[in-house]
Amino acid sequence: MADELLKWRAEFPILERAVYLISHSLGAMPRATYDSLREYADVWATRGVRAWAEGWWEMPLTIGDELARIIGAPPRTVAMHQNVSVCQSLILSCFEPEGRRNKIVYSELEFPSVMYVYEAHARAGRFRLERVPTDDGITAPLAAMLAAIDEETLLVPLSHVLFKSAYLQDARAITERAHEVGALVILDTYQSAGTVPFSVTELDVDFATGGSVKWLCGGPGAGYLYVHPRWHERLEPKVTGWMAHEAPFAFADALTYAPGIARFLHGSPAIPALYAARSGYQIINEIGVEQIRAQSVRQTSHLIELAEAAGFEVTSPKDPAWRGGTITVNVEHAGAVTKELVRREIICDYRPGAGIRLSPHFYTKDEELELAINELRKIIATRAYTAHERAGAAF
Ligand SMILES: Cc1ncc(COP(=O)(O)O)c(C=O)c1O
Repeated sequence: MADELLKWRAEFPILERAVYLISHSLGAMPRATYDSLREYADVWATRGVRAWAEGWWEMPLTIGDELARIIGAPPRTVAMHQNVSVCQSLILSCFEPEGRRNKIVYSELEFPSVMYVYEAHARAGRFRLERVPTDDGITAPLAAMLAAIDEETLLVPLSHVLFKSAYLQDARAITERAHEVGALVILDTYQSAGTVPFSVTELDVDFATGGSVKWLCGGPGAGYLYVHPRWHERLEPKVTGWMAHEAPFAFADALTYAPGIARFLHGSPAIPALYAARSGYQIINEIGVEQIRAQSVRQTSHLIELAEAAGFEVTSPKDPAWRGGTITVNVEHAGAVTKELVRREIICDYRPGAGIRLSPHFYTKDEELELAINELRKIIATRAYTAHERAGAAF
């Protein structure tokens, strides 16, 4: 299987020059993206304004359908947007606090961009927040999450995989609890889509959102919003625009929401980003997330063995059932050490509290993992990072 996956390496130019262990941040660009972006420019150059009617206008939903296959969503349940933060704002704009049901529950380890949206609304006095504390900075305790969700809870924004530590949350248990008390779940699948198999339909979440920058190798500007069909005709987003109208080209004075997922669109879409995202989705769909996950579990387990054998502390969960595609290795001066690794073309990053994040993807060779840990060992043994450290290197 590993050999079969390695044939994909030729499709990613950066792998010729770097050990690329950062797909939790920016997935490698597929070679086909050059063609996709050229196609975009050709269409604009040759068809001009007719491009809108010949596909561009529909693209947030047609590209959404391709993404939907990766997250186990039916066709016409995904609308493409710029990013997760916009999607969270759009979802929240569908709701008003109703009596005591005005609480939003999330782990304090959520991605900041997500928390900031809810904090801003809480500051304006519209909602109450319950931030569930972490004991170790790595995991969001399930029992505490379940206990915080009660009859006063309106929404539960939930990272499927936590960005810092790759801790994989029990989305099923949390969704069941939320539904039991009448709350809705917004699953942030940014760190799981493309590396952990799941189905939003099976999990029965109300919304899901993420972007294409990371494991999907789709580049920036192609965020996605899944809305469960049970909500399509019942919600009226206040973050909206003319694409959400049932007849946009009537240019009517008042908004009449489109049926279905189209009502969750707003203004003109970011067409180049949607062209760019396609090649990543096609590759992920062709390989299949099950196969990517099998390779990821094998390689992340191997990475843990290598790191521990070299005497490093691994902070991400050891049990693959509780982790996504990333391993975090805690070393002193992680910022400066990371900078030196990157200088040596071992591309990774670090997050305070968790350590250096290392992520094999389907295009990673086993030898590259060995190389990365070896370089890490050498850098620390020789204090090769001290120049960066003295310069106050942050990464
Ligand atoms: C879990 C998670 N959610 C959201 C984001 C990004 O949010 P946005 O699309 O608003 O930039 C990231 C990483 O950039 C992430 O890891």
